[in-house]
Amino acid sequence: MSRIPYIPETAPFSPEQREWLNGYLAGLLSDAGTLPSPVATLPEAEAAKEPLLVLFGSQTGTAESLAKQVKTEAAGAGFDSRILDMAQHESVDLTKESKVLVVTSTWGDGDPPDNAVSFWERLSAEDHPSLDHLHFSVLALGDTNYEDFCGAGKKFDSRFEQLGAKRVHPRTDCDLDYEELAKTWTLGVIESLKSSNGTSPATGSAAPSTEAPAPETAPETPTWSRKNPFPAKLVTNRKLNGEGSNKDVRHFEIDLSGSGLSYEVGDALGVVPTNCQELVQEILTAIGSDGEEAVPGASGEEVALRHALTTDYHITAPSPALLTLIARRTGDETLAKLLEKDALKERDAFLSQREIIDLLVAFPEAKLTPKELIGQLKKMQPRLYSISSSLRAFPDQVHLTVSRVGYTTNSRVRKGVCSSFLSDRVDDRGTVPVFVQISKTFRLPENGDTPIIMVGPGTGIAPFRAFLHDRRATGAKGDNWLFFGDQRRDTDYLYQDELEAMVADGHLNKLDLAFSRDQAEKVYVQDRMLEQAKELYEWLERGAHFYVCGDAKRMAKDVDNTLHKVIETSGGVSPEAAAEYVANLKKAKRYQRDVY
Ligand SMILES: Cc1cc2nc3c(=O)[nH]c(=O)nc-3n(C[C@H](O)[C@H](O)[C@H](O)COP(=O)(O)OP(=O)(O)OC[C@H]3O[C@@H](n4cnc5c(N)ncnc54)[C@H](O)[C@@H]3O)c2cc1C
Ligand SMILES: Cc1cc2nc3c(=O)[nH]c(=O)nc-3n(C[C@H](O)[C@H](O)[C@H](O)COP(=O)(O)O)c2cc1C
Repeated sequence: MSRIPYIPETAPFSPEQREWLNGYLAGLLSDAGTLPSPVATLPEAEAAKEPLLVLFGSQTGTAESLAKQVKTEAAGAGFDSRILDMAQHESVDLTKESKVLVVTSTWGDGDPPDNAVSFWERLSAEDHPSLDHLHFSVLALGDTNYEDFCGAGKKFDSRFEQLGAKRVHPRTDCDLDYEELAKTWTLGVIESLKSSNGTSPATGSAAPSTEAPAPETAPETPTWSRKNPFPAKLVTNRKLNGEGSNKDVRHFEIDLSGSGLSYEVGDALGVVPTNCQELVQEILTAIGSDGEEAVPGASGEEVALRHALTTDYHITAPSPALLTLIARRTGDETLAKLLEKDALKERDAFLSQREIIDLLVAFPEAKLTPKELIGQLKKMQPRLYSISSSLRAFPDQVHLTVSRVGYTTNSRVRKGVCSSFLSDRVDDRGTVPVFVQISKTFRLPENGDTPIIMVGPGTGIAPFRAFLHDRRATGAKGDNWLFFGDQRRDTDYLYQDELEAMVADGHLNKLDLAFSRDQAEKVYVQDRMLEQAKELYEWLERGAHFYVCGDAKRMAKDVDNTLHKVIETSGGVSPEAAAEYVANLKKAKRYQRDVY
């Protein structure tokens, strides 16, 4: 549609601004029949826009996607909003910001995610300047299964307050089921910010955001998502461990044909599991149900109890709320003691040995109705797995490297929900509901000539198999160095043939192995790093990116400590200087972790 060009070409506006203004003025003219002074109107509309900074801390992308949505909502409400990865915090001066929203997840044991660590250090410095001019609010993501629920969000929230900033909207702590709460917080915070200092930001109707409809918020896979996973075919389920191993790690190949799904190496695959039917039946039997009773399903609609227990809810780990209900119903003294305030340790120890079925069997007199039981259950959550393939090497496929969780407590054999679903319960006719979880913070260097060092013991090998296949497919010339470890070479050397073939043809320049139980002294990947300290430091000095994947509790911490030691000893610097070196690696995105 052509419009009368009220705004001359020479006016200092972008084409989009000019286009919008011409439309706006055309509208005004047709309404009022008069032409207001154009040049006077625009700067006012522009000047009314309040700057708003959305900072995100995110490990696997959830908080990052939410932050993008917040930014878009705020722009739609007339704020001049921008988004910033906390890893880039040095590009902002908080003393010059007026409105800051923090969206962060929590990792480790109540810690900020990797990309937020250095911002947290900066903010918590004793001499941090006052922020008493600042308006802020925090959206915290977490998981109530962790002791320090939303710990990082809570820390940011109280630190901003300590520094004098004004909380314009209460912090919201979200469990894994975060969508509704996040939406409510976003709308609430925008309303609060609008009125926080008496200035009303420009509204969409008076001066719509000049931003293009943010393409970054569009999901990369528009159809398939966490809420609407793709029913994929599992085409390969191969055990990677040899006879006699303590482990059961599987290589899965999943067919993505027809889905339109794509991924980058470094991404994770979300898998939505179905519970074990025998366990569902045991629970039904324990509460005397035939499974047909109508109960609220995860979506809120009524479904049959058997269906709800099979797909909608988490039916293994008991919640303290279930324990409380059973204690109240039965009047059992042992349970009552466990629920006392100072019995946290004993309660955790008790619960760690038991699943829901144990409680139902041990306390039948609790007589839970189907609805009461459902009321104490958490919704089923997808599990994430680091992708171990590259689409460039395996078109239309996604590969996973999954350790099947199995153990015995309280004399019952337990199965990890999702790893046993993939290993045991998907047959020829079955499908695996999947979605891609983009992980922008775990990426190969853009320049294929850059050397990479990968530390990935156990299932930590997964993304590095993907990296290696991808670099081969793209013809990347950079050197590749892998540290891999597990218990025994004979039984636990995952992808041995592939790795050795890559060493033989020169694609994998260095492979260092640590099999902890093959000798009297335990040997781990971090020990191999120390043995190679000089060369490792040289690789870092020539620009290598350093990657870690796998166990977060011990391995990633030990590897991090060792990295500091390597820099100290081979770089001949103090512990403080080594810490700065590591911080700079992180800042330059040359130290990336995918740990869980
Ligand atoms: C970003 C990311 C990437 C990941 N990548 C991978 C990957 O590549 N490969 C992989 O295998 N996993 C990976 N994981 C872990 C994976 O998501 C699941 O957590 C894992 O498979 C267990 O899920 P599950 O449903 O089988 O077990 P669940 O049903 O969730 O049970 C696990 C729980 O069982 C309990 N438990 C386990 N062992 C014992 C024991 N011996 N004694 C008592 N209790 C015990 C613990 O409470 C544990 O939390 C990744 C996780 C993340 C967040
Ligand atoms: C290894 C690991 C450790 C975690 N630790 C915590 C924790 O201590 N407290 C918590 O509330 N949530 C914890 N979580 C849950 C995450 O914060 C939650 O899954 C969040 O939605 C992830 O968001 P992100 O993708 O933006 O990082 C942890 C998750 C994982 C996988």
